[in-house]
Amino acid sequence: MKNIIITGGAGFIGSHVVRLFVNKYPDYHIINVDKLTYAGNLANLKDIENKPNYTFVKADICDFETIMGIFKKYNVDGVIHLAAESHVDRSIKDPFTFAQTNVMGTLSMLQAAKLTWEQLSEKWEGKRFYHISTDEVYGALEMTNPEGIKPPFTTKASSGKHHLAYGSKFFTEDLKYMPHSPYSASKASSDHFVRAFHDTYGMPTIVTNCSNNYGPYQFPEKLIPLFINNIRHRKPLPVYGKGENVRDWLYVEDHARAIDLIFHKGTIAETYNIGGFNEWKNIDIIKVVINTVDRLLGRKEGEDMNLITYVTDRAGHDMRYAIDSSKLQRELGWEPSLQFEEGIEKTVKWYLENQAWMDNITSGEYEKYYESMYANR
Ligand code: NAD
Ligand code: DAU
Repeated sequence: MKNIIITGGAGFIGSHVVRLFVNKYPDYHIINVDKLTYAGNLANLKDIENKPNYTFVKADICDFETIMGIFKKYNVDGVIHLAAESHVDRSIKDPFTFAQTNVMGTLSMLQAAKLTWEQLSEKWEGKRFYHISTDEVYGALEMTNPEGIKPPFTTKASSGKHHLAYGSKFFTEDLKYMPHSPYSASKASSDHFVRAFHDTYGMPTIVTNCSNNYGPYQFPEKLIPLFINNIRHRKPLPVYGKGENVRDWLYVEDHARAIDLIFHKGTIAETYNIGGFNEWKNIDIIKVVINTVDRLLGRKEGEDMNLITYVTDRAGHDMRYAIDSSKLQRELGWEPSLQFEEGIEKTVKWYLENQAWMDNITSGEYEKYYESMYANR
């Protein structure tokens, strides 16, 4: 029996990772440690909440004493650390919370693991601290091919017609960190602490940096679920700047599969980039989402294009993200399983079929936040 803490398991990606581990590894005990901030939602885990190998603990990762208590109580073998403040726009308004949770919270998890594990006779043997990070730590890539070119990608994801590259450079694991937003600066700092715990104390750590995820259970402040919901209700779609920024999109279950593989087979002290080889300009993705929602709701395809509303750009808006995940493909054999067209269809369907999940979130406090976010644009 392995006791594994997954932090942030009630959030978007965390809930997919918890579900995968609980179902796939009945011999593991999965301890989901989550503070349930605005982004944490136990409804994301309804289908597994009564499984015998699953425990939920409501706790703040910054509360070091409580985290120490969890390590002692559950005889923890491994940590998959996802808990974080994750939304760039919020970090621009409130950077302190990001430094607190993402930097101090990660440090608190690291220190609790270190103090617990170094006292054991077997010390680090069989232990693992896996930190989930983002491609945003690398900064922004240039758009040297604004029309897009087809590079010689080797993954399955490359075969679809939309898989273009908008520049000749990609994020590789050896790139210098150049974060621009308070969010990415806080994640970069947390990555440095994780590596420092390996280099200083010998803690068995792994870091991965992933591109934009999409799929079910994403909090509707992020582009895709926000826009699906707004199209359904015929509300304006706030496109930042010219909508030309490029992101590399990965279906969330493919990220969860990569996390499973790397947790079990990844080399200690290594970094792996995880991405979809799937670059899209925001405006192009928005058009696909509009067409898909319209079609699935029985409206005329494209009928809701008039909801597109160009608004003031995000401060410090990174132009292009594009991950090179060939190291992960080469060394561990991972590649994205879903074509983007399939993934976005599944995603839109899920949100339309789970309107109660969405309504539950988008009423009350969220509404006030959303209004204040866009009021002064
Ligand atoms: P999310 O905002 O949906 O979920 C974050 C979860 O962490 C929530 O359940 C929240 O309650 C919990 N949490 C926040 N502060 C906490 C605290 N102090 N103590 C305990 N729990 C706390 O985030 P997400 O999009 O699922 O991202 C998860 C992780 O993956 C983050 O570390 C993020 O940086 C990283 N990441 C996200 C993406 C993406 O596209 N969403 C891509 C790459 C990496
Ligand atoms: O790259 C990985 C990162 O992807 C993760 O580390 C972050 O946690 C995650 O939130 C995501 O960051 P982005 O800022 O790229 O995601 P977001 O969904 O906020 O925005 C995607 C793009 O769409 C971005 O260029 C900004 C733009 N956008 C976003 C919103 C919410 C709009 O044009 N309008 C919007 O209303």
